[in-house]
Amino acid sequence: MNELDSLVESAQQLFAQAVTPADLENAKAQFLGKSGRVTELMKGMAQLSVEEKKSRGAAINVAKQAIEAALTARRQALADAELQTQLKAEALDVSLPGRRRGQGGLHPVSLTLERIEGIFASMGFDVADGPEIESDWFNFTALNTPEDHPARSMHDTFYVEGGTETAPNLLRTHTSPMQVRYAVQHVKKYQALLDAGQSMPEIRVIAPGRTYRVDSDATHSPMFHQCEGIWIGENVSFKDLKVVFTDFCRTFFESDDLVLRFRPSFFPFTEPSAEIDIQFQTGPLAGKWLEVAGSGQVHPNVVRNMGLDPEKYIGFAFGMGPDRLTMLRYGVNDLRLFFDGDIRFLSQFQ
Ligand code: DAH
Repeated sequence: MNELDSLVESAQQLFAQAVTPADLENAKAQFLGKSGRVTELMKGMAQLSVEEKKSRGAAINVAKQAIEAALTARRQALADAELQTQLKAEALDVSLPGRRRGQGGLHPVSLTLERIEGIFASMGFDVADGPEIESDWFNFTALNTPEDHPARSMHDTFYVEGGTETAPNLLRTHTSPMQVRYAVQHVKKYQALLDAGQSMPEIRVIAPGRTYRVDSDATHSPMFHQCEGIWIGENVSFKDLKVVFTDFCRTFFESDDLVLRFRPSFFPFTEPSAEIDIQFQTGPLAGKWLEVAGSGQVHPNVVRNMGLDPEKYIGFAFGMGPDRLTMLRYGVNDLRLFFDGDIRFLSQFQ
């Protein structure tokens, strides 16, 4: 084997030993680099005659090309190997079950509100929405609870700036302000009829929403939900309240033998007033009286604040707690669970 053949062979061997691209580049430098062995051979031709240069140069070139070919082949082999390793590392098992994005769903209290709205809508009630930042007037005064009325102390709340006749200044303590708010709009709409001494369509509405009080324990949250209901007409009585509310409760709890009790109570905006208790006949809560709402015949002063004549218009109102209804329906015993945002709890209602 001549000198050039063995040079090619040693290049091939060295390239074959290179396991990383950096090894290979080092090996390349030994042959093709500035002071590599091929370059040295080229330099060594300086003394040769023109004829000798020709044949020697051609021979060196052949050797150089063989080394370059070996280098290219090894480069390609190393790149292929690296790709294989990478593919192996990133291998996907397409037979694995996919990871789903959580579907999400409605909060249990939202489910209850939807249910309440559906049931009352089926009984001909409108659904109205009111502001959570309310004025002293709608929250208290218009509801027959003037300043200094002792009933205000049971509704301690969060006050904000403002508090003039028109500027809302507190977080509403109940949804009852919607009684007068909604009625005033309704009366405005039918004022022409009333002015002509005719009758207006009845007011029949529920108003669900968030309410606020300075209260916090296992059964009270500073933010909670209420749903107000009101029905005002020329001939609406306590009997209608009993029928409507009994129907509602039996439908809501899907229990025909549910018993209701109207227990005399006091609210400034109703006279007479009653707390509504329910009693299940079966199930874990059977036999216990459970308070679910306040109610009563709307006080004449409140009817007057609606812009109506209390001698002609009469009706009833009620206010219930959707949080409590949700707890009873699903057997939840701590109100705070609804507002902690724990997905393990909330996902049970989907
Ligand atoms: N607003 C009352 C409360 O938060 C509940 C209530 C009682 C509402 C009697 C009514 C009602 O509409 O007639 O305690």
